[in-house]
Amino acid sequence: MRKQRHTPQPPEPIEHASIDELRSLQLARLKWSVAHAYDNVAHYRRSFDALGAHPSDLRELSDLARFPFLTKQDLRDHYPFGMFAVPREEVVRLHASSGTTGKPTVVGYTRADIDVWAGLVARSLRAAGVCPGDIVHVAYGYGLFTGGLGAHYGAERLGCTVVPMSGGQTEKQIQLIADFQPDAIMVTPSYMLVLLEAMAREGVAIRETALRVGIFGAEPWTEAMRAEIESASGMDAVDIYGLSEVMGPGVASECVETKDGPSVWEDHYYPEIIDPETGAVLADGEEGELVFTSLTKQALPVIRYRTRDLSRLLPPSARAMRRMARITGRSDDMLIIRGVNVFPSQIEAMILHHTDLAPHYQLIVTREGHLDGLEIVVETRPEAWSVLNAAQREALGQALLYRVKTMVGVSAAVNVVAPGAIERTVVGKAKRVIDRRPRS
Ligand code: DLL
Repeated sequence: MRKQRHTPQPPEPIEHASIDELRSLQLARLKWSVAHAYDNVAHYRRSFDALGAHPSDLRELSDLARFPFLTKQDLRDHYPFGMFAVPREEVVRLHASSGTTGKPTVVGYTRADIDVWAGLVARSLRAAGVCPGDIVHVAYGYGLFTGGLGAHYGAERLGCTVVPMSGGQTEKQIQLIADFQPDAIMVTPSYMLVLLEAMAREGVAIRETALRVGIFGAEPWTEAMRAEIESASGMDAVDIYGLSEVMGPGVASECVETKDGPSVWEDHYYPEIIDPETGAVLADGEEGELVFTSLTKQALPVIRYRTRDLSRLLPPSARAMRRMARITGRSDDMLIIRGVNVFPSQIEAMILHHTDLAPHYQLIVTREGHLDGLEIVVETRPEAWSVLNAAQREALGQALLYRVKTMVGVSAAVNVVAPGAIERTVVGKAKRVIDRRPRS
């Protein structure tokens, strides 16, 4: 039986402010944030002074371009608490993102920072169509990762009933979804696919559950993946973006009525797009690296933080704030195969173009002598596996290979494997790329 629908909450006034109102709020907050960083963090004072940039130089928003960038390495260099702009005793929460090498990056929040974060995740959920009174199943990991607790506080703030499931324990997830009948689920898109598979296996018809919307993020995904999840589940699938250095989930989030890219919550985070090579600020609409400046953060102000994420800033649509285009990849995730730039998301879109191929894949990069090799390992859909013979599977691989060659410009080997052959990620972010090339 379908549950009764709760009443949606209207957006906050700032979400429909005029552009003048928004820009003047941003400028006032920017002046505060830059001065707060300069006055309280030795690193900012040194790096601003080295460029001859002083907070009093900020007369308009574009003056921000005079200030230096902040990188992940800067945060690492001040491990663990050296970038905090408030006494450690005022920090009520720590999170950390695990680096692939070395020490994690530590982030901290004052009580007011947690409050802003909860408010922005609540706003993101509202934009996704979640209502006070709804049940929200959180399958992002709880712990040092910002996904679980970030989602949790936001859903509570909106007035939802939160199921703090965290990642993993797939069978238990399915049981709770069947028993509690959540209206919304917050999870990585790759783990949603695992849940969908498990539901099919256990005979739980997702379309007959109360699930209405999925709020997916923490890893890159494509429009093809959205179509895949929506058609398999009957849910609306929306994109939520964020990163721990800036806050966590909810820096930007998509409106369900338009599904045209996450609106950046610009009243708290000022976005820029820069040329990753030169650092020059690019015009809206041009693709480059996303850079964020926090406007209200107390514990860990970030001034011009280089995210490494590649995107574009798009004009406002459902809200007064600009949107960001779906992340095409991270500049440091980009594979360079025999000189050709390849993003895993491009390959994903091509895989999903073939109706017999499943969205479970891995890219294996090797090097023999001086030559890079790319192998795409991809599963067929269960219904295709049983009807395709070896020659037909081979032909399917050839068709994908041809598409990748003509569209991306790189030759690859394609290995079409049985459903379930690729290991699933049940906690954390999907590992799509296995780079076996020796480190130079
Ligand atoms: O992944 C925060 C988060 C949790 C966002 C849950 C959304 C949902 P980090 O672990 O610091 O924080 O990783 C941040 O993940 O720089 C992007 O490269 C990637 N990422 C996050 N959201 C998206 C998204 C969290 N919607 C890094 N699309 C970011 C593509 C995303 N990539």
